[in-house]
This record gives sequence, C-alpha cells and structure tokens, in this order.
Amino acid sequence: MVKIGPVRGTQDLLDVRLEKKIIDQLTAHLLLHNFQQIQTPIIETLELFLRCVGQETDVVGKEMFLLEPRDEEKLCLRPELTAPTFRAFLNSGVQSGPWKVFAHGPMFRYERPQKGRWRQFEQFNVENIDAQDITHDIALISLLDRVFRQIFKLQTYILQLNFLGTASERQLHRAALVEFLSAQQQQICHTCQVRMHANPLRCFDCKVESCQQILEQAPLLLQFLTADSQAQWQQLQQALQLLDVNFVINPRLVRGLDYYNGVVFEFQSMALGAQNAFCGGGRYDLAIPLELRKPVPSIGAAIGIGRLALILRETGLQPDLTLPPLYLILPMTAELKILGLMLARQLQAAELRTDVLLDDCSLSNMLKKANRLQAAKVLIIGEQEAAQNQIIVKDMLTGAQQVVLQAELLQALQ
Ligand code: HAM
Repeated sequence: MVKIGPVRGTQDLLDVRLEKKIIDQLTAHLLLHNFQQIQTPIIETLELFLRCVGQETDVVGKEMFLLEPRDEEKLCLRPELTAPTFRAFLNSGVQSGPWKVFAHGPMFRYERPQKGRWRQFEQFNVENIDAQDITHDIALISLLDRVFRQIFKLQTYILQLNFLGTASERQLHRAALVEFLSAQQQQICHTCQVRMHANPLRCFDCKVESCQQILEQAPLLLQFLTADSQAQWQQLQQALQLLDVNFVINPRLVRGLDYYNGVVFEFQSMALGAQNAFCGGGRYDLAIPLELRKPVPSIGAAIGIGRLALILRETGLQPDLTLPPLYLILPMTAELKILGLMLARQLQAAELRTDVLLDDCSLSNMLKKANRLQAAKVLIIGEQEAAQNQIIVKDMLTGAQQVVLQAELLQALQ
C-alpha cells in the first residue's frame, strides 16, 4: 500500500459535527444582528494582500502560498478575509455603508505547524465596512463577547484591547520607538534589529525574553494619542463596561497585520497554549493602500474555528452533538434490497435517519454491523415477511422485536 498522508500543517477532519455546529451558531448569531453572508474566492491576486496586509508582515512577507502563474498576474491562496471582503465591497457597487457582512472558509498561511496553528485553517470572518462611528466598534466587540460567553459558554477567556491611534499619531510614536530601539541595538535580537527599521511596532510581538524586558521600557502608542483619539478610547472602554464586557488593556498588543488603526483586540484562552488567540480584529481603512479618493473606515474580526473547537473539546464545553436515532434496514436477500431502499425513502421523507445494508451477508453479521453503526432499531425484511407485506422491527438495546405491516412502519417507529 502506498501511504500518502496529508500535507504538513493540514489535517483530515473525520468528524466535523463540532466545527459545523460552531459555524451554524455563529451564522445564526450574525444573521440576528443583521449581518449578511457572502462568499469570496479562495484564489486572489498577490497584489491585493501586498497592498492591504503589508509586505513587511509575516503573513505576506513569509507565509504566502503562491500559485504558479500562467499569465502575468501573480496569484495566491488567501491568508485572510479582510482584504478580499473589502475588495468585494468596492466591486459590489454598494456606494455606502455600513456594509455588514460575514463569510467563512479555509485560509492558508505557510507557518511553522504546532498545536492550534495549521497551514490550512478555517476562519469565520465578520466585517462592518464604511462604518465610521466608534459605537460600531463597541457593537462588534460586545457581539463577539456575547457569542463566546452566552452561546459557547466559555468562562475563562481574556479580551485584550489596545488603541493604535491614527497614522500621524503612529508616526510620532514610531520615531520615538526607533530612537529607543536604536539606543538598545546591541541588546535586542536579530529579528528586532531588522524589524526596528521595517516595522518597529512588531518588535512588541517578539517572544525573546530579553527583548520583552527591554520593550517593557519602550514608549507606548497610548502615550502619543491626541485628545480626539483619547476621547474615543475612553468612550470605548466606558461603553464596554456598561455593556458588561470584561477586558484588559494590553498597550503592547499590536497584531500581525499592517492595516489597523484605532482599536485592536484579541480574545485569548489559556486552554490553547502558545497560540492562544481564538479571535482577533480591529479598526482599519484600506482606502490608502487601494488609492481610493475618500476614506472607508471599517471594523472587523476573524474567529479561528479550529482553535474555538479545540477550546470547547479541551474544556468539556462541547454542545450536544448526539445524532438522532439510526434505523437500519436489513434486506435478507438480494431481491429485497430495492424494497429496502423504497422503505428507507419513506422513513427519510419523515425525517428519520435511515440506512440500508446492501452487502450480502448473514443475519448475524448484519446485526454485528448494526451494533457497530450504533443503530437504535433494525428493520429486517425476510422473504416470508415480504410476502405478507410485513417487516420485523427489532430494538437493538432491549432485543425486543415485533412484526408490523410495512404500511404501518412509520407509526410503529414514532
Ligand atoms: P488574525 O489574527 O491573523 O486576523 O487571525 C484571526 C484568527 O484566525 C486568529 O485569532 C486565530 O484564531 C486564527 N488563525 C490565524 N492563523 C491561524 C493558523 N495558522 N492556524 C489556525 N488558526 C489560525 C485576521 O486574519 C484578520 N483578517 C482579522 C480581521 C478581520 N481584522 C479585521 N477584520
């Protein structure tokens, strides 16, 4: 046998009931909040992410799955959904927002695989495009918090918040940060030395202990906010408190994508280990990288479905995933198989989960298979019963059996 496994960092999911349930629950919650479901392609142009997410980010600089181009245009597998959703907004002809949409599907990032980090993973992405007011941020964060707390019943997660200000505030902070890092150049790691010039904010993401210690003293963006940004930042915090959303402020939370300004946030769970964020988002505007004439302030977030499923499994908070009882029809001869399929059709039409065993084998082997399939009842059609339009109904738990008319089978099962 030639054994070919899945590609490193990808996985076969042989039971997706939990993932499907999570997506169904998120979908219902978003529809309730008047968001609309959309779908964008998995393949996008590389240019979209180069412009929108930023060349200096790990996601674009190091982790893109590039596709061999047949024409001039470079293509890639999407690593995230914010840029594609924004692109869809611009192409849709919708003139103004708020455009409240969500989408889910696979994303691709060539990262080092580890627990909770895959090269293909499912995201549930929510965007509110062309939504200027800070209350949109408050509404989205509280919507997410409610879904995690009330619908998924998560108890031990942390919502971290930070405020990345405006471009001019970030510019002032950047100058101060570069000056600070330059003075420490000999002490910081090689990656930080490179990032210091390319994207100094990302130094706050460094996991090297000595860098973290040094960065404790670094100037923070929050110290550079103007009165206007300060007022929004305060309004956001006060409103979240009023709405009963617990959060902690992490002034070093920078997120790995370049498009953010204003509030950024991450929902983190201790159940996940090093890759502890199961949802992340913030405010952004892609008008400048896409050279639009006017700003399109927007806010959004993405939930990692695989990570949320991991948390629910590891903390025993899985929702009820039991399937309805299985009715298994056992035709005793080859000639009776079609009758079996016809009876199955009637039961399925009445929403009863039904299957037919179609491989020739003895009754005892069929009953063994029925046990393996965890059938609640088997419906045995022998030649004698068929001749009299009857069928045997056997309860697999108690072993009790009765003979009923095929025409009355449905009533006998309900
Ligand atoms: P992100 O933080 O890169 O944000 O990803 C969002 C979530 O996707 C993470 O919190 C995590 O749960 C999951 N995730 C990311 N990478 C992986 C991976 N390699 N394996 C498994 N799960 C992963 C974004 O993608 C932004 N587009 C979110 C956003 C929407 N911001 C504004 N709108």
